[in-house]
Amino acid sequence: MPVTEKSVKEVYTALLPQTMVVADLGCSSGPNALVFVSNVINAIAEHSRNDFNQLFRSLEQFKRSAEMDRNGDTLPPYYVSGLPDSYYVRLFPRQSVHLFHSSYCLHWRSQVPEGLEGKREVYLNGENMYIAKNTPPSVVKLFQEQFRKDFSLFLRLRHEELAFGGQMVLTFLGRKDEDVYSGDLNHLFGLLSQSLQSLVVEGLVEEEKVSSFNLPAYGPSVGDVTALVKESGAFEIAHIKLFEQNWDP
Ligand SMILES: C[S@@+](CC[C@H](N)C(=O)[O-])C[C@H]1O[C@@H](n2cnc3c(N)ncnc32)[C@H](O)[C@@H]1O
Repeated sequence: MPVTEKSVKEVYTALLPQTMVVADLGCSSGPNALVFVSNVINAIAEHSRNDFNQLFRSLEQFKRSAEMDRNGDTLPPYYVSGLPDSYYVRLFPRQSVHLFHSSYCLHWRSQVPEGLEGKREVYLNGENMYIAKNTPPSVVKLFQEQFRKDFSLFLRLRHEELAFGGQMVLTFLGRKDEDVYSGDLNHLFGLLSQSLQSLVVEGLVEEEKVSSFNLPAYGPSVGDVTALVKESGAFEIAHIKLFEQNWDP
């Protein structure tokens, strides 16, 4: 059984098949054949545990510790659910949510900036994966336009879902200065691009793969965010604050 399990895991990891086909050659006519099948299924289930399953498994523990915090007092009744979809689509019924929260997510775009994802545009942003000093202004525009599209869509969708008087608390990565070429994300992803470039030099990664790779990310300035919220006409900003992260604690 351990040998079979190891094989199953190795094949699954190497191929990540959408559907995994397993054949038992010369199977038994009775339960033995099903024991094998059940081992395979369990090995895959064990190996492909997803984040959501993990999350819901931790709910019991959460309930116990929440009750402990309240010294045994009962909590208000609550119900936890998970929606496996992107927040760039409608997720909830109209006016059904009172508070939205999002932490360290909204700097991710719904896709690589439109116009920068095809093979033909391979060298538009050189070896960079994000906005760098030598990124042409036309490419910067594509990153900004993708942010404008995504964030406006996000605001429109959440506005439909939020109950009247509801609020959102959003924290995400951005940049301190208005200058789109300078910011922690530019620096961080610049270092990552350099690392990939060294792998190219060492012949470990194909140059074209690095040149054609751009991140679906954008770190907006406070001004970028404020302008889009105003433009949406859907929300008022009650509080907006920039805080700096210590990269070297
Ligand atoms: C850095 S983690 C933040 C996790 C957590 N909120 C926290 O603060 O620790 C970013 C998460 O956003 C998710 N994410 C990125 N784009 C998304 C999208 N369009 N819809 C839903 N989730 C998304 C990623 O899968 C990832 O789980």
